[in-house]
Amino acid sequence: MFQRISFHLTLLAVAGVSLFATTVMASEPQHIFHTSNSNIIADSTTSSEWTVSVSDDWDVLGPFPIHAREQHFLSPSYPIDLSEEINFSAQFSSSYADGGNVGWGKAKSINGSLSVSFPDIRWESLRATEGWAAFQHHTLLRTVITVSPPSGSDIDPKYIPELQVSVVQGSFFTVLPSHVGPGFVPAWYAGNIYDLSGSMPQTVQLPEQPSLTTSTTYYLYISGDYEIRLFGDPSSREHQVPELQITYALELELPLQTLLVQATHHIVPDFVDGWAFGNTVGVGLRSVGGWWTITRAELLSGSAEVQVLSEPHLAPSQTRIIPLQLTQHGALMMTELEFLIYATSSFGMQSTIHVTIPIKQRQEWNTTEADAIKATYLFSASTPTAFLVKPPVYEDSGSTRPPILALHGAGLDIFVHDLWPKALPRQQYSWTIFPTGRTAWGLDWHGPSADDAWSTVSALYNILDRRPEWHRWRYAENTRVLILGHSNGGQGTWYMAARYPDRVLAAIPAAAYIKSQAYVPLTLSRSAHYIDPVLRSILETSLTPDDNDLFLSNLAHTPILAIHGGNDDNVPVWHTREAVSVLKTWNPNANIIYKEDPGEKHWYPSVFDNGIVQDFIHHALEGTLPNQTSQVANPPTSFTLTVSVPREISSLNGWRIIQLAVPGRLARLSVAMDDGTLIVKTRNVLAFSINPALSSMSMGQLLIDNIPVDLHGQLEASQLTFVLRHHHWHMESDGLDNIDVQSSGRMLNILTSSGPLMIVCPNRTTHLSAALRLARDLDTYHKLSVEIMEAESAIEHEINGTLGSGNLVILGGATNAFTKHLLAAGRAALQLQEGTLLLGGNAVRSGLATLFLHPHPINPAGLALVLFADDERSLERALRLFPIRTGITVPDWLVVSDEADKIGTGGVVSAGVWGNDWTWNEPMSSF
Ligand SMILES: *[C@@H]1O[C@H](CO)[C@@H](O)[C@H](O)[C@H]1NC(C)=O
Ligand SMILES: *[C@@H]1O[C@H](CO)[C@@H](O)[C@H](O)[C@H]1NC(C)=O
Ligand SMILES: *[C@@H]1O[C@H](CO)[C@@H](O)[C@H](O)[C@H]1NC(C)=O
Ligand SMILES: *[C@@H]1O[C@H](CO)[C@@H](O)[C@H](O)[C@H]1NC(C)=O
Ligand SMILES: *[C@@H]1O[C@H](CO)[C@@H](O)[C@H](O)[C@H]1NC(C)=O
Ligand SMILES: *[C@@H]1O[C@H](CO)[C@@H](O)[C@H](O)[C@H]1NC(C)=O
Repeated sequence: MFQRISFHLTLLAVAGVSLFATTVMASEPQHIFHTSNSNIIADSTTSSEWTVSVSDDWDVLGPFPIHAREQHFLSPSYPIDLSEEINFSAQFSSSYADGGNVGWGKAKSINGSLSVSFPDIRWESLRATEGWAAFQHHTLLRTVITVSPPSGSDIDPKYIPELQVSVVQGSFFTVLPSHVGPGFVPAWYAGNIYDLSGSMPQTVQLPEQPSLTTSTTYYLYISGDYEIRLFGDPSSREHQVPELQITYALELELPLQTLLVQATHHIVPDFVDGWAFGNTVGVGLRSVGGWWTITRAELLSGSAEVQVLSEPHLAPSQTRIIPLQLTQHGALMMTELEFLIYATSSFGMQSTIHVTIPIKQRQEWNTTEADAIKATYLFSASTPTAFLVKPPVYEDSGSTRPPILALHGAGLDIFVHDLWPKALPRQQYSWTIFPTGRTAWGLDWHGPSADDAWSTVSALYNILDRRPEWHRWRYAENTRVLILGHSNGGQGTWYMAARYPDRVLAAIPAAAYIKSQAYVPLTLSRSAHYIDPVLRSILETSLTPDDNDLFLSNLAHTPILAIHGGNDDNVPVWHTREAVSVLKTWNPNANIIYKEDPGEKHWYPSVFDNGIVQDFIHHALEGTLPNQTSQVANPPTSFTLTVSVPREISSLNGWRIIQLAVPGRLARLSVAMDDGTLIVKTRNVLAFSINPALSSMSMGQLLIDNIPVDLHGQLEASQLTFVLRHHHWHMESDGLDNIDVQSSGRMLNILTSSGPLMIVCPNRTTHLSAALRLARDLDTYHKLSVEIMEAESAIEHEINGTLGSGNLVILGGATNAFTKHLLAAGRAALQLQEGTLLLGGNAVRSGLATLFLHPHPINPAGLALVLFADDERSLERALRLFPIRTGITVPDWLVVSDEADKIGTGGVVSAGVWGNDWTWNEPMSSF
């Protein structure tokens, strides 16, 4: 395994490289028994007699300059085409190498662990001018795997094993037959690049049937991409040379019709005095083979019941967390929960799965003792989710104090390391809430990670509210919070505070980076040498919502304590200095304290645990910070609200932008009180609203863009809405209801779903592999639930009104009946004419990968994402562009050609952002 890396680095970067690898395969086949009408079930699915071995000798090609996430556009096998014969003496341009060329080399793995470095490259010289950007590099790795059948015995050719492959810290991998012909399309699978715990291996069908009598060889290719955010600066490990470290494991499994318990995916709350701290339980199940429906669950012990929520389905090889609701009639004092889960397969086979999950029983907290408690809730009405809380020392006497929302650093699994909860001293009267943000990286506290964080605040309220004995510990419903975080969580603190300013009473970002492009610059981009800068700017609108610096106007009056170690070698200290400077430009008297801790690195135990920070927290929670009380009574007399995607930003002092004139561009609304006149200036705003109660500004005269607007004495309204029509601002008396807050804005919004994501395949065979890869990645990276269904059934569900509100991901081209059905409704600037897709009236030629957002057929706030591709090659390309991680530049729609393999976004044919109501948005479209 890897050498362990010093702990302060692991917080942001390489957390637990060697810690979690062993949990990956933890299935429990022994807990299965079946009552069935079929004889094809085996008790063990491990194909003990088939064997697979992996050669320790690797061919290595690299290093090539690349910027973070560029590998989603480039071919993972860059610079070569795997459908052609490989020339191992060929040379390839690389500006990192002396002489400007690199060729194939060798590396040796030990025990499933591969380290690759290029000591001949003069990295320090590159660093001197290009900085961290020059450490980012791509390599192509390849080895041989051998699959051997059982010797001598009869083999049933119906049962060919599948590979279970885990590749940790590699970006993509593929398995190829030993000979491929021209036009061969490799299926690339995502590795577990962040080394997230509880990640399932990818199930890979052998690309060619293995011989039943002798060994068959295949090639395993890995795209190895060194990212500073994952591997850190080599100098923090006292190295000058960056070293890519990948671990892998391959096993074989027979795809029998069986469900297995997947313990890594169980979600259970702690029990306090016998009462569950959260009434949601999740049971991890994996389908080894077959399509399964979970029909019912039964708790075997104690005075309680469980109920399966919705009717979850599992596709072959899919892992899911089955959501159960627990109803207690009394205290449960046992140390494990025991269930029976009932399932039916599509062949009518019945299966009963016996599951035991250990639980932690504890006494109610008291003034002297209170470890963090694990709580659970149902995220987005679909996914059981756990979080930690630390209770206050004393119950609240009267005025309820708001809680603290504490965001961890990247790679930190809060249920494995207690470092994060321990870093924050218990508060006198406030709860401290530690969400996961879906997983240890999540989406960098944006999108579903931010939703998860906010949802834990109401989840804890509900837990305390549900049990009368805990009422004295409750805080106010819809309370504001003090938000803080370290590293990626510090960045998340800036992000969440600036996007939900009215929900935040104070913020403490520590060791935060401003935004990803500032953290490791994109200067060594390959794509940038080829793409039209105007088209590039359209692609980069998909990063605007993440650009924390652009939104600091929203925090110009929020009490902030910003902290950074003066010698941080992981997130450089200039990030916080710069953010503070930007904020002070908006408001020279901003209510911000900058605390630089000289000599300190990225993590130090006293970062929050010291008098200054605890004093700030205490006063912020009590509402007694200097200027804080006065601020509630007298809001600032002038402020500016900045918005990029209206649905991602809530109100500032009660003001909210709800529509943009040109979606894709930044909007600003500045408000100033001058002598009894409220002066509003707008930039790129089409509609905004005011909540007079929150804004608490006296509204005498109102001047919007220099034109007086008559309020018609509507000041008593709970919401005033203003809309720009024909160059004039009008007040809408019926408020927000008739204005849609556009749910598009960037493709990443697909991850924000109000139910399980539904992946729609043309039928149960076509594109199933792509659907399963996506489902597995959504589980690994975000713990989002996925239902896979075929087009005909999705259409039926829609007609029956049972489609559900979750976002849809639709795979395949005009042959997908659901895509046809969706586009026939004509709800977006899209048409399908005799199999040809028209975008805003422009025909997309065949053979291209097209991705576009489309309104959800029934949920006005929902989305559908179509990965439109006529052939396998473009479908594979579209799949790699699914925005599974932050930083993949995909706006609302784009069309990509095969040229992307070599020139990245230079291969983007056209791209754009939808207008309001899904219209064509000419200024933000490039066709
Ligand atoms: C392989 O590459 C070498 C070096 O560029 C070249 O001389 C040789 O002709 C190539 N072989 C083939 C079969 O293309
Ligand atoms: C390889 O891994 C096995 C099992 O984890 C261990 O017993 C063995 O010592 C390892 N060998 C080396 C060379 O690290
Ligand atoms: C606090 O709780 C712990 C166990 O959770 C118990 O051992 C201790 O006696 C309690 N202290 C008081 C003052 O009740
Ligand atoms: C805080 O109060 C002081 C004294 O009243 C004032 O000078 C300063 O401008 C205030 N700061 C903010 C951010 O309101
Ligand atoms: C699935 O659809 C494809 C075309 O999209 C078709 O060729 C295939 O026969 C279908 N399979 C089944 C089982 O319907
Ligand atoms: C739709 O409703 C019909 C009639 O109730 C039913 O037979 C069918 O199974 C339903 N379809 C789906 C996909 O639920």
